[in-house]
Amino acid sequence: MAVLEIKKYPDSVLREKAKSVENVDGKLVKLAEDMLETMYAAPGIGLAAPQVGESLRIIVFDVGHSQGEPEPHVLINPVITASEGEEIAEEGCLSLPGIYTNVKRAAKVEVKGYDLDGNEVVMQAEGLMARVLQHEIDHLEGKLLIDRLSRVRQHMIKKKLKKALAER
Ligand code: NI
Repeated sequence: MAVLEIKKYPDSVLREKAKSVENVDGKLVKLAEDMLETMYAAPGIGLAAPQVGESLRIIVFDVGHSQGEPEPHVLINPVITASEGEEIAEEGCLSLPGIYTNVKRAAKVEVKGYDLDGNEVVMQAEGLMARVLQHEIDHLEGKLLIDRLSRVRQHMIKKKLKKALAER
């Protein structure tokens, strides 16, 4: 396994609509494993393939790891099939270093996708897990958390990002 480079805003790969995975081969399994390792090393609780420069519909996440109960998940071609309620909570993104901001998301979601064995997976999630799933699936659409903010807030954050980039 290997730790991959995480693409940062404003890298254009983060704005592409990712392609569906057609079949799970050794290369894809390796990518998923590398993504998990990259996520743990960051450290983060979720990562989408475009964030490591692969415009493919694959996400990894683990919301238990920081509580000492690792539960790695890989989802291929994930789709939100139902959502309910609303919840506002603070979010960050490994592609937007130093940015933490409140984002409104559905409180509960049902997500369908496939695991690395090609089996269909249906997940019912709420709380942090629901948030991570929505955040990572947004990445597959080329969407970042800043796109979910008010225009005033977006303007403030983009200014901050521009400043951080200039100082890099
Ligand atoms: Ni992110």
